[in-house]
Amino acid sequence: MAVWDKNLLWSFMFLLAGAVGQTVIYPLTSTCAVRGSTVTLPCTFTPRKSFSDGWREVPLKIVRVRWCKNHEICQGSTPSVFDINSTNSDPRYQYLGDMKTNCTLQIRDVQQGDSATFRFRMEADHPEGHFINRTGVTVRVDDGSKIIIISSSDDKKLSRGETVTLLCASVCTFHQLEVTWFKDGHTFSDTGPSLRLHSLTAEDSGNYTCALKKNMKTLSEPYSLQVEAGAGGNLPPIPGVVFVVLLAVIALVLFIIERRLRAAEDQRAAEPS
Ligand SMILES: *[C@@H]1O[C@H](CO)[C@@H](O)[C@H](O)[C@H]1NC(C)=O
Ligand SMILES: *[C@@H]1O[C@H](CO)[C@@H](O)[C@H](O)[C@H]1NC(C)=O
Ligand SMILES: *[C@@H]1O[C@H](CO)[C@@H](O)[C@H](O)[C@H]1NC(C)=O
Ligand SMILES: *[C@@H]1O[C@H](CO)[C@@H](O)[C@H](O)[C@H]1NC(C)=O
Repeated sequence: MAVWDKNLLWSFMFLLAGAVGQTVIYPLTSTCAVRGSTVTLPCTFTPRKSFSDGWREVPLKIVRVRWCKNHEICQGSTPSVFDINSTNSDPRYQYLGDMKTNCTLQIRDVQQGDSATFRFRMEADHPEGHFINRTGVTVRVDDGSKIIIISSSDDKKLSRGETVTLLCASVCTFHQLEVTWFKDGHTFSDTGPSLRLHSLTAEDSGNYTCALKKNMKTLSEPYSLQVEAGAGGNLPPIPGVVFVVLLAVIALVLFIIERRLRAAEDQRAAEPS
């Protein structure tokens, strides 16, 4: 009776260890992306290493990984957006993960139909190791999301010579989509999400806006930048110069000491012992 109890206890503990050891984590369970952009669904997993078939531990190995759209179980012949064992997956869905721990999926050129819940499923060489986390990642596809400008400086008044970076941002990611930058109606050639303005002069003062190139309705509220005409910012950074000179002097002293030591050593070596 006692032996049987012990076995039961062990089985129970293996079961528990298996259940606990097997996870799929979606660090981001919901996200929002602008149509046409690229969105990444981060995902990590820990497969079950082995299972107990009564007396022995049978090792498990992951042989298949897949992602499904709007499906709770994603097994068998369920259509999947990505399947490691299928060659005809839509190339818009890129698996950035592996067969061990990383199950990250990237969706390029996001379409309206990607407004869905995506779930990852792993399959081992034995059904004991099959697992899906039904939580999934819910993607919302947005077309004209509100865009704002974020500045790298808290100050709206900057001094001449300073550098500032403006970031065109939105709650919905628009990764890979081109941005148009405006200053008082004029456009810039930059098409990235950030605009770096260095060696500021009074002429950089003005109202900045940005929008997604393919949808001007997304135009942000103006960001007003003022560069103060006064002096400052153009003097060489003296502490930096002093630091460099000091470093050079130290290096020189070390070099001389090293040469002296080596010379002394050579001399000693040359002397007959
Ligand atoms: C399922 O995913 C959610 C979200 O990442 C996570 O909190 C939860 O722990 C996961 N469950 C399992 C059993 O992996
Ligand atoms: C998937 O492909 C791998 C090799 O790429 C193979 O070992 C495995 O058995 C396949 N799994 C299924 C379920 O077909
Ligand atoms: C998973 O792989 C992607 C692509 O290589 C990488 O960007 C990401 O950092 C990896 N995630 C983890 C948790 O290692
Ligand atoms: C920037 O916009 C503000 C109002 O939002 C206006 O008062 C100011 O004159 C504008 N500056 C320029 C340079 O157009």
